Amino acid sequence: MYENVAVVGATGAVGTIILDLLEKRKFPFETIKFLASKHSTGRIIRFKGQSHTIEELTPDAFNGVHLAIASTPDDTARDFIPEATKRGTLVIDESGYWRMDPDVPLVIPEVNAAEAKKAKKGIISSPNCSTTQLVVAVKPLHDYGKVKRIIVSTYQAVSGAGLAGTRDLENGSRAALDAKEYHCEIFPYPIAFNCLPQIGSLKEKGYTSEELKLLYETRKILGDDAIQVCPTAVRVPVANCHSESVLVETEKKISVEKARELFAAMEGVTVMDDTENKIYPMPHICTGKDEVFVGRIREDLSYDNGLAFWVVSDNLRKGAATNAVQIAEWLQRNGK
Ligand SMILES: NC(=O)c1ccc[n+]([C@@H]2O[C@H](COP(=O)([O-])OP(=O)(O)OC[C@H]3O[C@@H](n4cnc5c(N)ncnc54)[C@H](OP(=O)(O)O)[C@@H]3O)[C@@H](O)[C@H]2O)c1
Repeated sequence: MYENVAVVGATGAVGTIILDLLEKRKFPFETIKFLASKHSTGRIIRFKGQSHTIEELTPDAFNGVHLAIASTPDDTARDFIPEATKRGTLVIDESGYWRMDPDVPLVIPEVNAAEAKKAKKGIISSPNCSTTQLVVAVKPLHDYGKVKRIIVSTYQAVSGAGLAGTRDLENGSRAALDAKEYHCEIFPYPIAFNCLPQIGSLKEKGYTSEELKLLYETRKILGDDAIQVCPTAVRVPVANCHSESVLVETEKKISVEKARELFAAMEGVTVMDDTENKIYPMPHICTGKDEVFVGRIREDLSYDNGLAFWVVSDNLRKGAATNAVQIAEWLQRNGK
């Protein structure tokens, strides 16, 4: 057991769900502390029926801490994590900063749990939310028919941009309906009644940082650098849950029936695929759930070995908090 545990970024969109999961899933520990920025220091939060005071994230806050589950911005993770590991803390990190470091495993327990034991730097990264749901769905297809190419378009909820993203949708929608002006806190354009075809900064070949995560993280988790990915990431005015339209090309043909069978057998996947009866995954019904939902499974009309489907998952849960807590639980069960 990790006796002393810290939740870093405990006041954020992901951190709040981590607290909920640690409580509901009865994660074992002896002591727990909650860390955030100095703006939140002294704030009281409720956990397991008791009041706890938020402490400031400082290097010495990790003295005696065995395990930290962290969800902070990238630059914060860059700075504090070496201080934590120097003090012997194992960190499970939600940020994007450490994910592509070759000495940092990038883990989805249903896909590559054993990698968690290879944390040479004392850091385990949890993937980007849009990557996690994609890889959980693609994994059984890859194992059966070897995925050569993925074309993925995302429809990403505002909660993926943290609490400020949710405020921009809620306040922006109210303002738009009242014909009032609203200046977004974090989005470059109004998100209410709009779609933003850029998430993250512009990187190579016209792709954004968010899109390239879908390429490089997918390859790292599946351990296959030959997989080609063409990603488009779009922010949509949905409160919570990312949706993805996915097309995979496989070496061996996978029929719709076989795909349904493979998805159904995959741990962490729930198939909702009955279009005739209007049954398919939607953010509205997947929010608050821990699985990855797959539906609209179709044979591709343009490639012989192509399969098209629709994937929805709660980005704050399986895309972030649930995945991190599952990593911690796996380590508890399988030795550190
Ligand atoms: N949202 C998602 O769907 C999702 C999914 C996967 C991964 N992630 C990643 O998870 C991380 C957190 O995302 P979020 O959505 O939870 O963001 P958020 O709602 O903005 O929360 C950020 C958290 O980090 C803390 N923080 C910010 N600056 C800090 C500093 N300088 N020192 C200490 N603590 C600081 C905040 O504390 P204060 O409240 O005190 O400011 C807050 O607790 C990000 O790296 C994000 O990319 C998010």
